Amino acid sequence: MARSSAPAIYQIYPRSFQDTTGSGVGDLQGIIRRLDHVAGLGVDAIWLSPIYVSPMVDGGYDVVDHTAIDPRFGTMADFEALIEKAHGLGLHVYLDQVLNHTSDQAPWFQAAIDGDDEKADYYLWRDPRPDGGPPNNWLAQFGLPAWKWNHKRRQYYFHQFLPEQPSLNLRCGSVQNLIAAQMKGWRDLGVDGFRFDVVTAFLWDESLKDNPPATPEVHRKVAGEVFNPYTYQDHVYDMLPGDGATYAENLRKWAGDDAYLFGENTSGNSSIELAMAFTEPGRLDSVYTTDLPENRGNPATVKDMVDRSDSLQRIAGWLSSHDQPRHGRGDASDPVLALQMAFLPGPWIIYQGEEYGLPQPDLAREDVSDPLDLLYWPDGPGREGARVPMPWDAVADGYAFTAGTPWLPMNWDRADLQRAQAQLSPFYRQIVGLRRDLGWGTAKVTECTVIGDLLDLTICATNGYTYRGLFSHGAGDFRDPPTGDPVVTANVLCPNLVSKGWYGTVWKA
Ligand code: NOJ
Repeated sequence: MARSSAPAIYQIYPRSFQDTTGSGVGDLQGIIRRLDHVAGLGVDAIWLSPIYVSPMVDGGYDVVDHTAIDPRFGTMADFEALIEKAHGLGLHVYLDQVLNHTSDQAPWFQAAIDGDDEKADYYLWRDPRPDGGPPNNWLAQFGLPAWKWNHKRRQYYFHQFLPEQPSLNLRCGSVQNLIAAQMKGWRDLGVDGFRFDVVTAFLWDESLKDNPPATPEVHRKVAGEVFNPYTYQDHVYDMLPGDGATYAENLRKWAGDDAYLFGENTSGNSSIELAMAFTEPGRLDSVYTTDLPENRGNPATVKDMVDRSDSLQRIAGWLSSHDQPRHGRGDASDPVLALQMAFLPGPWIIYQGEEYGLPQPDLAREDVSDPLDLLYWPDGPGREGARVPMPWDAVADGYAFTAGTPWLPMNWDRADLQRAQAQLSPFYRQIVGLRRDLGWGTAKVTECTVIGDLLDLTICATNGYTYRGLFSHGAGDFRDPPTGDPVVTANVLCPNLVSKGWYGTVWKA
């Protein structure tokens, strides 16, 4: 299939999508079972969070073998059946590529520990300082020291995330050959594109100099909560996002010209400028930053993205994910935000369950296994809440997710769910269809005005028409709305809910 432009991408977190074995954990057959629902929304593609062999210390982002399916999810035959079913429904399939690091259980890392120096070069190992301390002051993104001692090698190794995720040396030729081969293997199976995990963290400065302290401005922008010590450093030596942009040319070469490629920008600093650098010709198609979800898509953030980017085609819009708390509130703001996202030009990533208006659930400490959540419990925003499994049926046992015990407790409000399934879900179908049929996704922004909490956006769509969308985030009534019938309005939904000044309507200009 041809490479998409501005696709609507539905993110599936496989552990939490649909269980078919009673294990309480989702699986590939479950995804196959629910693909009709996904295709019915009218999206162009699915992105699967990692399905590879993993001890799941970091929810699958700690990969042991990037070429094999974790048995918890199924088999390679299941995966081939998934590709066939998806393609039959007209859906592209994008896989996660976690290239920045492996699991510490990966054979390459284990061989390095056992003294294989060639494999040690796949990672970054350094002798201790004379006083036994780590080579420098680098910190990992979750806020731990970035160096862990290994007594067998009597050296430290570098990890930008958990100690169980040693960082790969992506400059090493052997590592590059292995990555190229693994990507080719997935393409040969019919995979249409890739999502690159933490693509802005790929390279470090080989001088291994200490990072300087963050200025107050950098401290505010570095990804992470303000209490995370990672935000106290300016990451000029442990992360070379600028050089990573050039590295994206390798990713394009390995994936092929017809693959849709998008990357995750975890660098809060200069997020939009980096997105532009990573999406120059011959690199990725788009990059997503945390600006929109961190600000729940507010008008000022949209304007800032429009002003700082050459084109929104190169920035994927999203509001929730397996890392980011769900943005659903179960009130009139949900359809307004959905419409705003559908109207905003560029790729759009919909996280599983947002079409059901799922809110962020509370979890008890004893239910949580995510190491990042536990590190700052209960003060971080928490990642595991957004991973609570999909409730497919408001009245069924186990919400029709599982016949067993779900791996995280599911306590969705059944009445809210029923309402959202009846109202919000069809609205998603309607607006994903309008976005595609009227050419909003591939449009250009021609005017973007923000007055307080009101966003007034005009786009020139690829169907040749101009559209104007007004989105009020609690601002109250529109000022001077266009006359005439709207193309679509979010306000017909949730009539029994107080709108609190949330409105969203699109007109043909
Ligand atoms: C981003 C992933 O989305 C997140 O879940 C993971 O913990 C980090 N990258 C490290 O792989």
